[in-house]
Amino acid sequence: MKKIILASLFAILVIGRPCPSPAQQRADLDKLMYGKLASSKAVFEGIALADFNKISGSAEKLIQISKMAEWAVFKTPQYELYTNEFRRAAGVIGQKARNKNLDGVALAYFDMTMSCIRCHQYVREVREARLPHEPAAVAKLARIPATR
Ligand code: HEC
Repeated sequence: MKKIILASLFAILVIGRPCPSPAQQRADLDKLMYGKLASSKAVFEGIALADFNKISGSAEKLIQISKMAEWAVFKTPQYELYTNEFRRAAGVIGQKARNKNLDGVALAYFDMTMSCIRCHQYVREVREARLPHEPAAVAKLARIPATR
């Protein structure tokens, strides 16, 4: 009897953990995405002030953010491509900052900004077209109501 109770408790703990609600998922995603905006602004501030520590620290934060599970809103090759572009540009920003190369930082910042724009364009396209070959991604976004 005791064993059964223990086994049930275990099952509840392991299997029955409640999934985060759509509202919670949305809140987590917003937090992550606005953190990304804050760090990219911080890189820009560092560029304006030639503050290389601020630049490399913020670029590192951007890389960490891009590795969070919530980042992967879409599981498509294109989304992965944009993610890689973004991460690579952020990596170059950090590297140039460590070399105190402000022009190099500025150029990589431009690259990263272009990756923001391209990925967002892709996200909008998928949203609008509701591409039939990406039902999982579309369903995921449909479950997470946009707040804006
Ligand atoms: C690989 C794709 C990708 C890249 C690169 C990317 N984003 Fe995003 N971004 C997203 C997705 C997906 C969302 C969430 C959209 C949603 O609300 O469902 C998002 C949301 C946001 C939001 C919140 C807006 C909203 O309506 O939810 C901001 C602000 C933002 N991104 C800024 C940036 C900035 C600044 C950069 C570059 C430094 C960037 N993003 C790069 C994919 C990307």
